[in-house]
Amino acid sequence: MEYTILNNGIKMPMEGFGVFQMRNPKECEQAVLDAISVGYRLIDTAASYGNEESVGAAIQKSGACREDLFVTTKLWVSDSSYEGAKRAFENSLKKLGLQYLDLYLLHQPMGDYYGAWSALEELYKEGRIRAIGVCNFYPHVLADFCETVEVIPAVNQIELHPFFQQPDALALMKEYEVQPEAWGPFAEGKNGIFTNPVLTQIGEKYGKSAAQVVLRWNVQRGVVVIPKSIHKARMEQNFDIWNFNLTDEEMRAIATFDIGHSEIVNHFDPNFVRALHGRY
Ligand SMILES: NC(=O)c1ccc[n+]([C@@H]2O[C@H](COP(=O)([O-])OP(=O)(O)OC[C@H]3O[C@@H](n4cnc5c(N)ncnc54)[C@H](OP(=O)(O)O)[C@@H]3O)[C@@H](O)[C@H]2O)c1
Repeated sequence: MEYTILNNGIKMPMEGFGVFQMRNPKECEQAVLDAISVGYRLIDTAASYGNEESVGAAIQKSGACREDLFVTTKLWVSDSSYEGAKRAFENSLKKLGLQYLDLYLLHQPMGDYYGAWSALEELYKEGRIRAIGVCNFYPHVLADFCETVEVIPAVNQIELHPFFQQPDALALMKEYEVQPEAWGPFAEGKNGIFTNPVLTQIGEKYGKSAAQVVLRWNVQRGVVVIPKSIHKARMEQNFDIWNFNLTDEEMRAIATFDIGHSEIVNHFDPNFVRALHGRY
């Protein structure tokens, strides 16, 4: 495992475990228990995933040392205001059964997210959150935000995988010292990513799968990855990416996959934005 040091000096694992679309409480709890037993220490949940209680229960049962874990949750749009964020933070903490959060993220740049950020800044200064960050902040939004707020986000979690590589977003994050984190590192399985012939061929050289090549490619360009799986064997496979290096040529070959837009979400579609104001 490798680590990155955030812009406030906090150490964050370069790989974690995502729990989106794990609504079944038993399944989620078992998956997080399995992930911790495999070695994952970063767990990425969100209020809107509806599974913070299951994540908290698994953390308790795992017996893992709290200081070794890096627990992330996210503030949903419906709580995107100063008061809403204060309330939502307490709710999430209670559901997770924790005394503090390692990372609290604004889930979307929507609603009164500047007001929400003020609340996060206060909680951060009180020591109740070790780092605060954002998600889905496109470059123009992130630039405006960083030019306005007092505490620069430590992390921006955005969609990052071979089919949507966002080089301009990564360049801007580097400028502001914001750590990029990839959601959907497997493009949620779209485009035949797990059987792609180029990725498979690259992997064969190292005795690795296409999935492992994809994760390795992102961490090698400085991106934290949080793959999701409910299968323990896949968790193990996805975690076994720290003993090989892709060559510059292989990195360049994967760079040609970029189609330059998301096939999962469209934040520029008013109907999608309206849907996010409901539950996601
Ligand atoms: N901030 C945001 O707006 C946002 C948005 C989306 C996601 N996220 C975060 O990012 C995390 C990861 O993204 P994601 O869950 O959307 O998608 P993902 O990790 O790109 O893909 C998950 C899919 O890949 C499958 N899979 C995992 N490992 C595999 C392997 N080695 N071989 C074959 N199939 C494999 C999983 O199936 P099985 O489970 O059946 O193994 C699942 O269908 C989420 O869980 C969440 O924490 C954040």
